[in-house]
Amino acid sequence: AAGLANKRIGTKIICFNETDSTNNVAFKLAEDGAAEGTVVIADTQSRGKGRLGREWASPDGVNLYCSIILRPSITPVAASQLTFLSVVAVARSVEQSTPLQPWIKWPNDILINGKKIAGLLNEMSAETEKVNFVVLGIGVNVNMRSEQFPADLRHPASSLFIEGGVPVNRNDFVRTLLHELDALYDSYLVDGYGAIREEWLARSQMYGRQVRVSCQDRVMTGVVKGIDDIGALLLDLDGREERVLSGDVTIL
Ligand code: BTN
Repeated sequence: AAGLANKRIGTKIICFNETDSTNNVAFKLAEDGAAEGTVVIADTQSRGKGRLGREWASPDGVNLYCSIILRPSITPVAASQLTFLSVVAVARSVEQSTPLQPWIKWPNDILINGKKIAGLLNEMSAETEKVNFVVLGIGVNVNMRSEQFPADLRHPASSLFIEGGVPVNRNDFVRTLLHELDALYDSYLVDGYGAIREEWLARSQMYGRQVRVSCQDRVMTGVVKGIDDIGALLLDLDGREERVLSGDVTIL
């Protein structure tokens, strides 16, 4: 019933007690022809996937682990815009569900008080010129407690519960999230990426700030000017513009 008023996203929702990874389940369903807007949710994942081949801690019953199947008529290069769409949807949902102030860190982290509370992992099936489908994978640390975090985290992480001091209802949160995703996806299909880019920039801590970016074996320091049509970070390095497609950013 979560998606009753939504146009596309959440018109079908499949819930599991446990999966290996909701992204894997959604990917297989999409290969078998599942409709756009199909959502896979699990209470726990035995092999939750993070970016760069890392593991995503998925303790049982406390957080949100979900994956959404989209079938937009876009090129593979444009698919990164959907990452920005989903990060904006998560930020809006946190704002509506808690008194906390979320910030976006490029490309797709949501921080509260400098700590990461959500992660996104999009996977797609595509041909050279066209996307077959995209799976938006969203993990939000909702009610996770401090002792449930892995000891070896690379960056500080937290949950809505830890930061806000009160538990957040997971069903309400997912309903809000699917509603915001639906609204943003509709605006994306009708009006394109412009409004999403603007909201992303407004919500990013980095606009106009001095940052250090490390990508592969290079380290650069510059001022953030924005993001381009495919989500690359635009940096001003002493008057020279540099586009960064991926890397780790530190605000100086
Ligand atoms: C990151 O490293 O920041 C991305 C984490 C993405 C985690 C979510 S949880 C739901 C979905 N299923 C997965 O296996 N991963 C994503």
